[in-house]
Amino acid sequence: MAKEIKTIGVLTSGGDAPGMNAAVRAVVRTALSKGIKVKGIERGYNGLLHNEMRDMDLRSVSEIIHRGGTVLYTARCLEFLTKEGQEQGAQCCRDNGIDALVVVGGDGSFKGARALANLGIPCIGIPGTIDNDIACSEYTIGYDTAMNTAVEMVDKLRDTTQSHDRCSVVEVMGRHAGYIALNVGIATGAIATLIPERPYDLERDILDRMSFTQKTGKKHFIIVKAEGVPGTAQDLANEIQARTGIDSRATVLGHVQRGGAPTLRDRVTASQMGYQAVYLLERGIFNRVVAVSADQIVDYDINVALAMHKTIDTKMIDVANTISI
Ligand code: ADP
Ligand code: F6P
Repeated sequence: MAKEIKTIGVLTSGGDAPGMNAAVRAVVRTALSKGIKVKGIERGYNGLLHNEMRDMDLRSVSEIIHRGGTVLYTARCLEFLTKEGQEQGAQCCRDNGIDALVVVGGDGSFKGARALANLGIPCIGIPGTIDNDIACSEYTIGYDTAMNTAVEMVDKLRDTTQSHDRCSVVEVMGRHAGYIALNVGIATGAIATLIPERPYDLERDILDRMSFTQKTGKKHFIIVKAEGVPGTAQDLANEIQARTGIDSRATVLGHVQRGGAPTLRDRVTASQMGYQAVYLLERGIFNRVVAVSADQIVDYDINVALAMHKTIDTKMIDVANTISI
């Protein structure tokens, strides 16, 4: 028989994402509704190593559903990559009476959770990252907010780009993944969208498209580049200017994409996922990652989840190339 869960810990780890607060709120309130106590662990796995945690009551998560960032703070914790660090984390859970842990973060954070699970601390992962690059889930908390922030920024850039007949190269986040870039490229009518998953050819994918559309009367250009595409936005803007004579500017949107009030989609998904995490623990279903599949909340064994692969929808590239011309 699975051990009874009386107290759970919850932490946020890795890069923050809008909606993490909504997930923490959902975990706390769902657990309390079932008579399970909750400890909020601060700064990811660092909190486990330094015993930084606080008891969470219903009001401890008031006024956070609409706030970006994470009230539990987040961090990267190199010590947790070591066996000693992981054993210390598991011992901290035992010392504090934490029977199970909910980890909101990305694949790296889930690997930490798996290490704890292997040391006897049941864990549940909740996907939280703006990059949408968690293999087992079609959707990750923060993705929608980040894309909407980026679209708002690119719309502003378009105004000034158009006034000056310029070319704007805009870099959006995504160190390893082009999901944000691809959607933002389509949503803002970028003449070219560059993603790490598909190497680009300067002539074919940018210059030829610019010159073709120039002949049809287009005078300003937006190029969306994911952070993970080799080369800087500035170098690309310089190259375009040198090759076309079109005045070009580079803008790196950066961490502005990680902040701000979560959208409805992020709040609702985070709430569903936080609820599901506690639902699983209460039923003795351990070591799972909560995910979205076909618009439904599902869960996978943590080993299965970490072995999964996700591919970008290449048809989206065709959509972008066909329409943004
Ligand atoms: P994300 O969770 O967004 O993928 P990281 O890859 O930076 O972010 O991981 C966040 C934290 O998770 C790391 O700082 C570390 O504490 C922990 N972590 C990452 N990878 C592992 C691993 N292989 N084993 C144990 N812990 C890990
Ligand atoms: O949250 C994911 C992400 O935004 C990546 O796209 C980016 O490369 C990374 O985080 C940067 O995070 P940080 O500056 O916190 O290391």
